[in-house]
Amino acid sequence: MARSSAELDRVWLEQFPEVDILLDSATIQKRVSELAQQIARDYEGTFPLMVGVLKGSVPFLADLMRAVPFRVACDYVAISSYGTETTSSGVVRLLKDLDTEVVGRHVLVVEDILDTGLTLQYLMGLLQERRPFSLKVCALLQKPDRLKAPITLDYCGFSIPNEFVVGYGLDYAEQYRNLPFIGALRADSAED
Ligand code: IMP
Repeated sequence: MARSSAELDRVWLEQFPEVDILLDSATIQKRVSELAQQIARDYEGTFPLMVGVLKGSVPFLADLMRAVPFRVACDYVAISSYGTETTSSGVVRLLKDLDTEVVGRHVLVVEDILDTGLTLQYLMGLLQERRPFSLKVCALLQKPDRLKAPITLDYCGFSIPNEFVVGYGLDYAEQYRNLPFIGALRADSAED
C-alpha cells in the first residue's frame, strides 16, 4: 500500500534530525493547488510565461505549473543574493538571463521566498524594462518582518516567522533542497 505523505515526511525526518517541520508536505501541496486555481482563473485564455528563479523555485514551479490546466511557457533566471550563509549579502547580480522575449507577454515570476525583497526588486525592475503586457509575482513563502524593498506579492503561499528555513527547494549551503516539506534548521546547525 502507498505510504501517506505524513509517513513519508517522517521517513525523511529520520535522516535529517536537525530539521523541525514548519510546513508538512500535505499542507504545501494543498496550498500549491489553491494558488494554481487562483492563477488559472486569472490567466485563463492567455499564454503566460512563468519565470522561475533558480535554484530555489524549482520544486514549487514544477508543482504549480502542473496544476494549471492550460498552455503555459516556462523560463528561468538565476540571481545571486545568498552565498552559503543564512543572511543576505545585499548584493544582487544576474547570473542567467531568460532565453525568451518578454515584450507583450503575460509574465508571472515564481519565487521560493520573499525575504528582504532585494532579489525581486531587482528582477521585477529588469523585466519591467522589457515591456511585458503584465508582470506579477508569486512566492511560496514570505517573511514580512524582514522586508526592506517595496515588493507586494500578487500570490503568496504562506507568511512565516523570521527564521531560516530549508526544504522544498530552499537550501542551506546547497543542502536540503530535496526535502518534501519546509522546516527550520535548529540554531546549532546553521551559522547566522
Ligand atoms: P531576498 O532578496 O532577501 O528577498 O532573498 C531572496 C532569496 O534568498 C531567496 O530566493 C532564497 O534563495 C534566499 N533565502 C531567503 N530566506 C531564506 C531562507 O530562510 N532559507 C533559504 N533561503 C532563503
